[in-house]
Amino acid sequence: MNIGVVGLGFVGLSVSCVFANKGLNIHGVDIDEQKMSIINQKKSPFFEPEINEILDKVLNKSLNVNSNLEKCVKESEIIFVCVGTPSNSDGSSNLNYLKNTCKDISKFLNKIQDGKFRIIVIKSTIPPQTIETEIMPLMKQNTSKQIGVDFDICSNPEFLKEGSAINDMLNPHLVVIGTNNEKTKYKINNFYTKLYSDSVNIMNTTIVNAELIKYTNNSFLATKISFINNIANICNKIPGADVEIIAEAIGMDPRIGKMFLKAGPGYGGSCFPKDVVGFLNFIKLQGFSMPILESTHKINQNQPLEIIKMIKSKLSDIDGKNISILGLSFKKNTDDIREAVSIKIVNKLLEQNAKIKVNDPMAIPNFKQIFNEKIDYCDSIEDCLKDSDCCVILTEWDNFKNIQPEMFVKLMKNPIIIDARRIFDVNKFKDIADFTALGYGK
Ligand code: UGA
Repeated sequence: MNIGVVGLGFVGLSVSCVFANKGLNIHGVDIDEQKMSIINQKKSPFFEPEINEILDKVLNKSLNVNSNLEKCVKESEIIFVCVGTPSNSDGSSNLNYLKNTCKDISKFLNKIQDGKFRIIVIKSTIPPQTIETEIMPLMKQNTSKQIGVDFDICSNPEFLKEGSAINDMLNPHLVVIGTNNEKTKYKINNFYTKLYSDSVNIMNTTIVNAELIKYTNNSFLATKISFINNIANICNKIPGADVEIIAEAIGMDPRIGKMFLKAGPGYGGSCFPKDVVGFLNFIKLQGFSMPILESTHKINQNQPLEIIKMIKSKLSDIDGKNISILGLSFKKNTDDIREAVSIKIVNKLLEQNAKIKVNDPMAIPNFKQIFNEKIDYCDSIEDCLKDSDCCVILTEWDNFKNIQPEMFVKLMKNPIIIDARRIFDVNKFKDIADFTALGYGK
């Protein structure tokens, strides 16, 4: 089966690789020539576990990548649209890439005379009602073909996570298909049941529900994180309190569940911050409000300051101090620093004249593009810790977990550790003389 994937960013490339590895013929399209040239060298433009291995296997066999959208539309039965929908400065979603793509697709559809019913599947995260009130009218203007008769457009939000994208794509907890058309419903259901050999949960619903499901899902997860971070901030002030124990206990209640209760410096990445603000913007435009989600956002914006407070509680004067930052990416197993807390914390520390050294297994090249010469980039943890007055752990990379307390003591001027991700059992560290380790929320 020939499938098109438009937009080879994080979602589009992961989807293309997994589909191609399952034997489908994938035509991937992007407008970014540089990105495609990297992919065509069998390399992913971003770090993601397993993706290079799959690219190596499928590229120029079941996966072909170029900028020819017209050919992609002509040859594909189903076209997945995975283009970015970044935030505008007012928090609304920038739909330009999506609109341009859909406009071009409709123009190309107009030229095709083979009588085949093609389906455009929107995977990009978009505000509710976008497909029906903006994309369908736009497509109608640009083609004489009839929506629902000659071709169709439906919603199929994606739930994969960076750092585990391939595994998430292979084992989705749910596939949501939003369509108001029986033929589209049948064809997309058939596509996914064949792809996953009947083992997948599929929810069929309307287009608007599918759009709302995605925003609600991310908003709820973000709220869970801000909720536990709020509790962690309270625990920080209560002697003997420990957010991890509390999270473990409440997580055993099946009505709550264990996941997304890890307190930390705040959620980052290309999704939660953007989608929470995008949903709030949508809600406001409808004349409603959602105070709980506003609080989720506010708590998250304040989290970097909570970490700065912890640093200040041990280093009263930051001016001129050497501070080591371990972990720059917004979470482990990715080189993505979009909306990463590390950027906010490094900026705050620089404002107070700290000298910053950083280490991260993957994200240094991206971080350099923001901070250039303003900070020192260290290839090893040892270099990063040397002569430091304070070490702040911001990302939970596995290699940081193996650092022994003795190494901090040996290398640092002052072994003060602020563990914002709680990767260490700081109680063990407390037995060492002259050692200060603060676990966030403890
Ligand atoms: C998130 C969702 O989890 C995916 O389901 C969704 O498909 C994706 O957004 C998207 O909309 O495209 P992602 O942003 O890749 O995925 O990463 P998450 O694992 O959800 O982490 C987001 C942020 O929350 C990270 O900064 C992470 O460190 C933080 N987090 C996560 C916590 O602070 N505590 C937790 O318990 C979990």
